[in-house]
Amino acid sequence: METCRTLEGLRAATAKLRAEGRRIALVPTMGALHDGHIALVAAAREHADAVITSIFVNPLQFNPNEDLSRYPRDEQGDLAKLRAAGCDIAWLPEVKVMYPPGAATVIDVAGPTAGWEGDARPGHFRGVATVCAKLFLQTGAEVAAFGEKDWQQLQVVTRMAADLDIPIRILPVPTVREADGIAMSSRNRFLTDAERAHAPRLIEAMRRAAEAIATGAPVAATLAAETETLKAQGFEPDYLALIDGPTLKPLQAIKPGPMRLIAAARLGSIRLLDNIPVG
Ligand code: PAJ
Repeated sequence: METCRTLEGLRAATAKLRAEGRRIALVPTMGALHDGHIALVAAAREHADAVITSIFVNPLQFNPNEDLSRYPRDEQGDLAKLRAAGCDIAWLPEVKVMYPPGAATVIDVAGPTAGWEGDARPGHFRGVATVCAKLFLQTGAEVAAFGEKDWQQLQVVTRMAADLDIPIRILPVPTVREADGIAMSSRNRFLTDAERAHAPRLIEAMRRAAEAIATGAPVAATLAAETETLKAQGFEPDYLALIDGPTLKPLQAIKPGPMRLIAAARLGSIRLLDNIPVG
């Protein structure tokens, strides 16, 4: 596996791949890699001949009140996992490489950024869209793999690439879960043992609600009841909602086409985020 830290180095490496006629897939990450990230590398592999994984903790997508410095970092561990997963290139730009002094361009996506994480984390999706557009253009990848775990991010990035006519296909990859059901996340390591043992109650409530709604239970009453259950179990739910998959518009009743049940809830100091298909 080749490691690139400069744009010149990355461009030389991708030019070589293209000269060999190899199709490039990109897996954008912020590192602290777990099996969810590795599933993206495996999915990317299936859709291309060479995989580039970027590791960049993007300051632009953190709010001032979110702790950028606390974000877990483990470059050596990450590189070992990427090597084992058959990644071809690790792209590790420093902040001054990604955002050189004077950088003044950001990408604001409307539509799918409205509501949910867009409300909870002002400016977050501007940072995500901006860095992903740069990663797409830096690598010239034909495919980019994104996890369904971050459902709204997946829709935002898909919209941005289409709107900017970037010739890249966004590949959604199903959420990888721990044996007890919780979605893998680099934030899970910050849960105390007691919180970690309790965390599966969230996905359990979501599965009950999704099953009930899919089999005809009234949407608002079902979501309200499970929200109360979560509160009684010590969560501070931010939202538990039924949405139209691509637009993220809230639904009051089931309808044909893709629907998701989305949730964000605080457990202790950690905000857990999850979503599942409905029907
Ligand atoms: P990060 O949180 O590192 O996630 C990188 C990718 O891994 C995202 O596409 C995310 O949805 C996916 N992912 C995380 N946990 C997963 C799981 N349990 N199963 C499947 N996929 C999972 O998301 C970001 O970084 C950043 O916002 C980024 C897109 C890199 C832009 O900075």
